[in-house]
Amino acid sequence: MSLMKTTISVIKADIGSLAGHHVVHPDTMAAANKVLAEAKKNGVIIDYYITNVGDDMELIMTHNRGELDTKVHETAWDAFKEATKVAKDLGLYAAGQDLLSDTFSGNLKGMGPGIAEMEIEERPAEPIAIFMADKTEPGAFNYPQYKMFADPFNTAGLVIDPTMHEGYKFEILDVYAGESVTLNAPEEIYDILALIGTPSQYVIRRVYRKADNMIASVTSIERLNLLAGKYVGKDDPVMIVRVQHGFPALGEVLEAFSFPYLVPGWMRGSHYGPLMPVSQRDARATRFDGPPRLIGLGFNVKNGRLVGPSDLFDDPAFDETRRLAEQIADYMRRHGPFMPHRLEPTEMEYTTLPLIQQKLKARFKKEAGVAEAKKSIYEKQVEGGD
Ligand code: F6R
Ligand code: MG
Ligand code: MG
Repeated sequence: MSLMKTTISVIKADIGSLAGHHVVHPDTMAAANKVLAEAKKNGVIIDYYITNVGDDMELIMTHNRGELDTKVHETAWDAFKEATKVAKDLGLYAAGQDLLSDTFSGNLKGMGPGIAEMEIEERPAEPIAIFMADKTEPGAFNYPQYKMFADPFNTAGLVIDPTMHEGYKFEILDVYAGESVTLNAPEEIYDILALIGTPSQYVIRRVYRKADNMIASVTSIERLNLLAGKYVGKDDPVMIVRVQHGFPALGEVLEAFSFPYLVPGWMRGSHYGPLMPVSQRDARATRFDGPPRLIGLGFNVKNGRLVGPSDLFDDPAFDETRRLAEQIADYMRRHGPFMPHRLEPTEMEYTTLPLIQQKLKARFKKEAGVAEAKKSIYEKQVEGGD
């Protein structure tokens, strides 16, 4: 029995897609596959699996090198670069979109790709679920992580299983301030919700089991638009969750997605829409460039080897969720360009809307007797004003 730790790295990027921001082309996946096969042969990684959801390519890799490893990240970068070459040759749409830099330096942080990594000591059996979404952003995983790890109405084990009964710790990142805070469930669930209810700003980055500090889940937190300062595609997130035996059961983890809750993203990264769990087969953005889609793949990890996957939402048990998602999509779409279908102004700052506002600016005239607001309502509340 070896004490060697295993790292699971899920690294994703949109390097161009077929027929619009729609679906990854198989030839680009084949190009990435060549790079990863070589890395496996050379012992840089132990195993890998390549998949896609919509226009995002996901590289699922295992190795013994820990998080943010230069060689592993460089391998992912090379795979995306090779895939981009093919995307350019084929004239695919938005080829190379998420690769914000030309040269690799150290690791992929801040370079465009989304990263979720977890270093673990494998349990005798190590079942995991990997979730990948298109046309939304990292905060989209706040709601289901809360359900999985803090809501006994979702996760029976929180009440019944003594190994889960103490609860979980939530590491929450403020993506604007670049600060994080760790809060405990169940004691601090109101504080947790006070933050994560604003998923555009506060993102659950990691969850740990409180009893022994074991990592339970990790999400990618990259917000491309904040990195680039402008709209360069949505920050479609990925998440790794450990399941069973002191963690939520696979079925408890999947239950968290049975309600197609609203997430920001969808068309032009500018609209709220329902997150629709689909099979790998249906992982393509279509209606109004969506609706925002989620796939889930289940694996077992054994000495770094990826056994699986099972396509977790390829199941009639999620048909009603998808049907409800379609009804919600109809309802939201009928609002057209109006909020709350369209995102709030702070989020629209990172889209192309400011260009339109800029154009209209010169045509605005001062109105006598209408006071200019000096502060936002929020700032007043914090100061204890009216
Ligand atoms: C959303 C997304 C798409 C595009 C839309 C317009 O994340 O990628 O909805 O925003 O298809 O794309 P452009 O501006 O490239 O024509
Ligand atoms: Mg895209
Ligand atoms: Mg995408």
